[in-house]
Amino acid sequence: MDYEVAGTLIDEGRLARRVAELGKAISVDYNGRELIVIGILRGAVIFMADLVRAIDDNVDVSMDFISVSSYGDSTKSSGVVRINKDLDNSIKDKDVLIVEDIVDTGLTLSYLRRVLMEREPKSLAICSLLDKKERRIADISVDYVGFDIPDLFVVGYGLDYAERWRNLRSVHSVEPTVEA
Ligand code: PRP
Repeated sequence: MDYEVAGTLIDEGRLARRVAELGKAISVDYNGRELIVIGILRGAVIFMADLVRAIDDNVDVSMDFISVSSYGDSTKSSGVVRINKDLDNSIKDKDVLIVEDIVDTGLTLSYLRRVLMEREPKSLAICSLLDKKERRIADISVDYVGFDIPDLFVVGYGLDYAERWRNLRSVHSVEPTVEA
């Protein structure tokens, strides 16, 4: 089945305003501290690029990235993910903020949180642009949420459908293409 981009769910202006608010909240919470911001490749990249620039310079920000994938669709619900690219630097005794584009079942973050906690960071918080709460399976609390969204398939601002449409400036829903 083919899909096409449908309506705009969150436009550029709302995204920018919310990212600025999140950056402010993070700036207050980590005032005067060092913060390692960890992006989960690839969906979080665009959000993270804007988010770190919305954090004031009273926070000493550094960036690292991790790439994970689930072991195929059939085992996705097992919550076992594979680390394809690990962090470059140690997080031991550091304040860490994981940045995601979307939390769906929560299985990816639940696994990742467990793995990263074993590395003994000073603190570990999570920021996700989107939160699809009604799909949640794993018990994971997200400290900074951009927008709660309904159970729609969404693309844009970093989110993809089969690697397409990550570059769209707004968040859109996708729908099956109606054959003529
Ligand atoms: C998406 C998203 C999260 C995960 C959320 O990644 O970026 O990492 O799925 O799903 P969950 O809460 O059900 O575990 P995806 O595997 O699509 O990779 P991508 O970031 O490269 O788009």
